[in-house]
Amino acid sequence: MRMRKKKHGAERIAACAEYLISDVTHLSTLGSNQTAIFPAVRPIHMEIGCGKGNFAVGMAVAHPEWNFIAMERVSDVACCALEKAKAAASDRPGDNLRFLIGDAQFLSDWVEPHSVSRIYLNFSDPWPKKGYAKRRLTHRNFLALYKNILVDGGELYLKTDNEGLFDFSMEEFEAMGLTVLFSSRDFHKTPEAEGNIMTEYEANFSSQGMPIYCARVKF
Ligand SMILES: C[S@@+](CC[C@H](N)C(=O)[O-])C[C@H]1O[C@@H](n2cnc3c(N)ncnc32)[C@H](O)[C@@H]1O
Repeated sequence: MRMRKKKHGAERIAACAEYLISDVTHLSTLGSNQTAIFPAVRPIHMEIGCGKGNFAVGMAVAHPEWNFIAMERVSDVACCALEKAKAAASDRPGDNLRFLIGDAQFLSDWVEPHSVSRIYLNFSDPWPKKGYAKRRLTHRNFLALYKNILVDGGELYLKTDNEGLFDFSMEEFEAMGLTVLFSSRDFHKTPEAEGNIMTEYEANFSSQGMPIYCARVKF
């Protein structure tokens, strides 16, 4: 996601500090001591590459029974998500949404093993050139990181507009021995899409009539 550098980005992020995990040592106790981050212990759901935060905010409002962590590596993009979360705070009486600014490649350094119930990857960068395959968030190296932080039987939910990334992901899931619970090449036309929360990219692509690819797998 490209974005012009935000004016006063640091100040704007600081104004939303209550929703930002700034001390990642707290994440190392996610399983045993979530209350360093959230007011209540609930299953942890994590979105990686949350962009401007539509999905994370929508899911946190729709599912007060879960705690959400939305991760984004570009701070100016995360700033938009944080401001969106702050504006909708009154819709989340359970205060169940936090953001982490960082790169998924460091997940294992931060997150306690076997503490996350579900990971969401929404419209991840496809990195179409073969030489960049290792940067794709469904490359087996990333899947190994997810396996480490997910609880036993934890799940990964993928949505994308990109057929190449979808096909690659399905091959990587198989190579890692993951169980495919659901897959579709036109997700919005399936009953599974009921209650679906759209991301910014998803709203844009589907308004152009493009099909959305979706898979759900179990580790
Ligand atoms: C194409 S955008 C999609 C944004 C949003 N999920 C949506 O569907 O509207 C992908 C986002 O993932 C973020 N991202 C890519 N690689 C990442 C990584 N390794 N760790 C964290 N975020 C990443 C990018 O900065 C970008 O904001």
